[in-house]
Amino acid sequence: MDVNGVALVVGAGSGIGLETALTFAERGARAVAFADLALDTASAASEKSKSIATAKDYETIAIAVDVRDRASVKSMVEEVKKRFGRLDYAVNSAGLPRQTSAKTQDVDETEYDLLHDTNTRGILHCLQEEIIAMKDQEPLYVEGRSGRRSVGPGSIINVTSLSAVTATAESVTYVASKFAARGIVKCAALENRHTGLRINEVCPGFTDTPMLRRGLDAQPDIGEIINRSMPLGRIAMPEEVANVIHFLASPGASFVNGHSLVIDSGV
Ligand SMILES: NC(=O)c1ccc[n+]([C@@H]2O[C@H](COP(=O)([O-])OP(=O)(O)OC[C@H]3O[C@@H](n4cnc5c(N)ncnc54)[C@H](O)[C@@H]3O)[C@@H](O)[C@H]2O)c1
Repeated sequence: MDVNGVALVVGAGSGIGLETALTFAERGARAVAFADLALDTASAASEKSKSIATAKDYETIAIAVDVRDRASVKSMVEEVKKRFGRLDYAVNSAGLPRQTSAKTQDVDETEYDLLHDTNTRGILHCLQEEIIAMKDQEPLYVEGRSGRRSVGPGSIINVTSLSAVTATAESVTYVASKFAARGIVKCAALENRHTGLRINEVCPGFTDTPMLRRGLDAQPDIGEIINRSMPLGRIAMPEEVANVIHFLASPGASFVNGHSLVIDSGV
């Protein structure tokens, strides 16, 4: 179904965010904003999107943002609204992996703070500014076989993790940051039920991105073990996660709200 409005993808310089932003461009979004801490990769991705975009007057921008800093997030969202007049779909995908493996009693609190600031407070900041920017927008409508229905003023999709719903040993910093992010998403969805703004979450399992590759390169034998442990015998491609995010943004998901959609091949 049509996803032809304005998309903002945070963490669009790499991995799941990059594939999601390109998917929006390829499937007809009229504008896509690529935001990332790394402006160079966001800019390259934004440039690439021009060659695959299908909307006639497609527009794109790249924005530097640090999700740990609310002022930076506020200026990102304001830039999108100022440039394109509206924000229809926001995807929050910026994140950091576990930096070291440690049992709970040995957790390094500097790492704990870094992951909390990025994966948890980052989601909080993005949701705060996106809700402010989106909740009072004019709702959009679609015509279905059973009549006309509202699809609300927009849709926000947060990328947490399978680690937001299940524990992994020696990964407290990451797991805690993702469980907490999931709590924020649930509260925000509940609070916004009367605005029509849909707020959901995808919880991917292992996905073949630079984040995962960096971890696998350090332990080459682990890759095959992970593949064998997956019900479908392999890890996800980032575009398989992007497809699900695109669905949640679309009118096809107009009655899906506050949901945690696990994408893990059936783990
Ligand atoms: N790859 C996986 O196996 C996997 C599994 C489950 C969940 N996830 C989650 O998916 C999301 C995307 O991960 P990925 O695998 O695509 O990783 P990635 O490293 O390929 O991409 C993450 C992007 O986030 C950006 N980023 C990091 N800190 C930032 C900050 N402070 N402000 C703005 N941008 C920042 C990075 O520059 C990078 O471009 C993350 O939240 C991650 O936790 C990944």
